[in-house]
Amino acid sequence: MKGVGYPQSAGPAFEEQKTLVVKDLVKHFPGGRTGLGIGAPKQWVRAVDGVSFDIAPGETLGLVGESGCGKSTIAKLILRLEDPTSGSIRFQGREVTDLKGQELKTYRRSVQAVFQDPYSSLSPRMRVHDIIAEGLRVHTDYSKSDIRVRVNDVLTLAGLSPDVGRLYPHEFSGGQRQRIAIAKALVLDTKMLVLDEAVSALDVSIRAQIITLLKDLQQELGIAYLYIGHDLATVAHLANRVMVMYLGRLLELDESVEFVRDPKHPYTKALFAAALPSNPDDVSDTSEQPNAEVPTALSPPTGCHFHPRCPDAREHCSTQFPEEVTLSGGRRISCHLYPSR
Ligand SMILES: Nc1ncnc2c1ncn2[C@@H]1O[C@H](COP(=O)(O)OP(=O)(O)OP(=O)(O)O)[C@@H](O)[C@H]1O
Ligand SMILES: [Mg+2]
Repeated sequence: MKGVGYPQSAGPAFEEQKTLVVKDLVKHFPGGRTGLGIGAPKQWVRAVDGVSFDIAPGETLGLVGESGCGKSTIAKLILRLEDPTSGSIRFQGREVTDLKGQELKTYRRSVQAVFQDPYSSLSPRMRVHDIIAEGLRVHTDYSKSDIRVRVNDVLTLAGLSPDVGRLYPHEFSGGQRQRIAIAKALVLDTKMLVLDEAVSALDVSIRAQIITLLKDLQQELGIAYLYIGHDLATVAHLANRVMVMYLGRLLELDESVEFVRDPKHPYTKALFAAALPSNPDDVSDTSEQPNAEVPTALSPPTGCHFHPRCPDAREHCSTQFPEEVTLSGGRRISCHLYPSR
């Protein structure tokens, strides 16, 4: 059975069951002009170009794809750090792209982020207690003692001793700093975490500890995660479903994380074969990898953006972008090898 378009079962009931529903999201950045002179046509970086997905409470959606495919732009759009060119982002059934003032503030309490470099979100001149308490001071009318109790609680949740509250960020290792960033992200009534390369800078063993922490916290608190990562093994370990992007577009998304062992799109096959070899000795086997030249979102190839690198490309792949189809089992795919009829 095949269906076309997303989602198959749209409607208010569907959206209310989900923490986040993103539909036809587009973000184009101005990318200079195509020639000299002010009359020359403007160029646009098509960072995100019509992407739809959803995340349920307590679920982790993994987001993968090569550098520049639009992962962080999606994160920034969800966090309202950027405004979309068009499209919709609904959080618990409510549109958030047009929120302003107090409503935007309330939304920002519920959706928090952890980035690769915790230094960027942890002020070096503030003690850990004050860093974590900041959100409570801005968003709540908690008393001083309520704040102390809540900060101590989230430090404990993040696997740290409440005593560390009097220290400064530079007094911690990378893994501990990421735990502080997680505690800070959880201190309010958080419903969703956007984790953009949150463990990418950590050593493998520390990375595993933080992933375990994230899994435990999700089980305890029922938070939804959007997990962006380069390391596919980590993504597969944490995510319930994985979504693959290429130059601003969604190429494949499956209802089960098992699909990392059974990808269908030629790009996903190549990406996963390189990252998850069935035999570790195959790591140097690059025969399945897409060739090295990655086009940019400023001038993406016509038709299917992947066609110049695709081993299965046919003539029409260079002229028509494949319509998305939903295969049996719920897998969504955009590839001419899987036509809509
Ligand atoms: N503010 C901006 N102005 C212009 N172009 C931008 C801006 N932000 C992002 N881009 C471009 O949008 C595209 C997507 O960038 P994005 O940071 O979302 O990629 P990414 O998938 O997160 O990459 P990485 O894996 O390297 O973090 C890139 O071509 C990038 O250069
Ligand atoms: Mg990024």
